[in-house]
Amino acid sequence: MFGLFKRRSSLCESGLLAGAIDNHSHILYGLDDGVKTWEESSAILTWMEELGLSEVWFTPHVMEDVPNTTEELKARYAELLSRYNGGLKTHLAAEYMLDNLFAKRLEQGDLLHHGGSLVLVETSTVAPPIGLWDILESMMCKGFRPLIAHPERYRYMSMSDYDRLSQMGCKLQLNLPSIVGFYGSSALERSKALLKKGMYSIVGSDCHRFKVLDRQYSAKELDKESIRLLRPLMTVVAEEI
Ligand SMILES: [Fe+2]
Repeated sequence: MFGLFKRRSSLCESGLLAGAIDNHSHILYGLDDGVKTWEESSAILTWMEELGLSEVWFTPHVMEDVPNTTEELKARYAELLSRYNGGLKTHLAAEYMLDNLFAKRLEQGDLLHHGGSLVLVETSTVAPPIGLWDILESMMCKGFRPLIAHPERYRYMSMSDYDRLSQMGCKLQLNLPSIVGFYGSSALERSKALLKKGMYSIVGSDCHRFKVLDRQYSAKELDKESIRLLRPLMTVVAEEI
């Protein structure tokens, strides 16, 4: 009877956000399906600072449907920096879909690094791109280390696929909304299993909208075990993994 009422916390009240680094976000305005205006970018950054975060990586989508160029991303980032006077340390990278545009950018070496040689990459959640493992190998051969965005969301992956990613030297990035159930039970269960196995290196919000982020960070869904396992990941610096 007593076990039914195990206390759960939200990310906001867990203490996990103090000094935290958000390694994945779509809050650099007007570039993708994320935040559209400077005002919303500014509001989110202010809120994150109030919650105690220390650093945020802007990782706009780059894919065939959203073919942002490196120059466009850098120009918008410079524009944001000219307006932003808050206290968060910010960085620019990108989230690359492993598609034909990525193959071209990889060939040209035209990729924004996510610290050191890490490049944040994603796939569809339902099916891998043709030649997934070859693409990852060719990244490694060119000196880029794949940082796999939200692996827990890839329903086509098995545990042995996750092991293979780790063994070949890829790093895994947890989406915090996954661990509070925002993408459904499959992503929740996978994120818990990967967290328990110690397979994640860093975390991110994957924030697209202020209101959604607020709901995700306020949801009282974190058990004590998850908080304990998440704590060491929250402040890891990408360059050091
Ligand atoms: Fe994303």
